[in-house]
Amino acid sequence: MYISDAIKYVGVDDKTIDLFESQYVVENGMAYNSYLILDEKVALMDTVDRRGLEEWSKNVERELGGRSVDYIVVDHMEPDHAGSLSYALERYPEAVVVGNAKTFTYFEQFFADDISGRKLEVKEGDTLSLGSHQLTFYMAPMVHWPEVMVSYESTEKTLFSADAFGKFGTLDTDEDWACEARRYYFNIVGKYGASVQTLLKKAETLEIEKILPLHGPILTENLGYYLDLYQTWSAYRPENKGVFIACASIHGNTLEAAEKLAEKIRALGEEKVVVSDLSREDIAECVEDAFRYDRMILCSATYDGGAFVPMEDFLHHLQIKTYRERTVGILENGTWAPAAARSIRGYLDSMKDIRVLDETVTIRSRLHEEDEEALDRLAEAIVRA
Ligand SMILES: Cc1cc2nc3c(=O)[nH]c(=O)nc-3n(C[C@H](O)[C@H](O)[C@H](O)COP(=O)(O)O)c2cc1C
Ligand SMILES: [Fe+2]
Ligand SMILES: [Fe+2]
Repeated sequence: MYISDAIKYVGVDDKTIDLFESQYVVENGMAYNSYLILDEKVALMDTVDRRGLEEWSKNVERELGGRSVDYIVVDHMEPDHAGSLSYALERYPEAVVVGNAKTFTYFEQFFADDISGRKLEVKEGDTLSLGSHQLTFYMAPMVHWPEVMVSYESTEKTLFSADAFGKFGTLDTDEDWACEARRYYFNIVGKYGASVQTLLKKAETLEIEKILPLHGPILTENLGYYLDLYQTWSAYRPENKGVFIACASIHGNTLEAAEKLAEKIRALGEEKVVVSDLSREDIAECVEDAFRYDRMILCSATYDGGAFVPMEDFLHHLQIKTYRERTVGILENGTWAPAAARSIRGYLDSMKDIRVLDETVTIRSRLHEEDEEALDRLAEAIVRA
């Protein structure tokens, strides 16, 4: 992949990984991006997950064409990027590691390599000249991890953005950017919206023509589109108007009620209504949809005095990802002592600025004719909200 005469892509596509971060289903694999800047001095911009070491090291050698590495810039110490650092240090013994104070603290935790005398510690706004290229470092704490920083190269107006603007999927996957970038964002970075906002403010002061993230495609056109989405997501603003119905059903009766509710909401003129079966759908996708739409309805069977496990699980995910500022309705089902709604409310009450509709529906075992009125009231309330 061509970036420029001086900036070379040396990352790898991982098509064999089962779960990214041992958690996220990645049907189209994962890309670990890494770059070289070739100037009077050579800078290696992050490495890759150990899983990609062999191919990556060949890419680096090929692009170096016999030269060596002067600087290894570590924008992020997480093993999916720093996993091949040890190898790089040994292979390029002259190379100096560039990071901030926290980078080096974590480096010592992860690695036994002695890099005393090979460290260049940088702070906010520090620069590093490579010749005609110059890097400026901006701290981006909690845009995934505390040590994260981004590097801006001013000659080519290129931002090395670390995990920001990343997505799931290998680089050779032909798929919509936003879909997998949104799922990546809300599940991986979403808890730290305020930190992303701080980074975006710094980015506003820079002239940026290219964004080179550590995952996913490099972004060279229409940058406003990506920056706008990041603004929306990090401010926790809904991206789309719509109702997301998340359902946890043991035997299918609650799911039937959820589908019926969706029909009623659509009949009231709501254009976007999405129903997800929490037992079967990718939970990360459901977390994404919860943030994506402005309203949500939670439908759950009662299970051992609480909500059915996939619902409890989903709410736990939303809680740790700091789901907030949305309107939520509840439908519960139970055979002898319905208690799902109470448990759901407990989670929602712990979240910031969640408006829970008063029109909670309780059904017993299955939807009955006499429940229709309550269902209508909930449908009308969510459409009005
Ligand atoms: C393991 C288990 C535990 C349950 N615990 C409760 C309960 O505490 N209170 C209750 O009212 N119903 C309880 N139920 C019953 C279901 O909530 C009820 O049958 C519901 O209608 C199932 O809806 P579904 O068809 O969507 O799964 C339990 C069911 C199972 C299988
Ligand atoms: Fe990360
Ligand atoms: Fe990453």
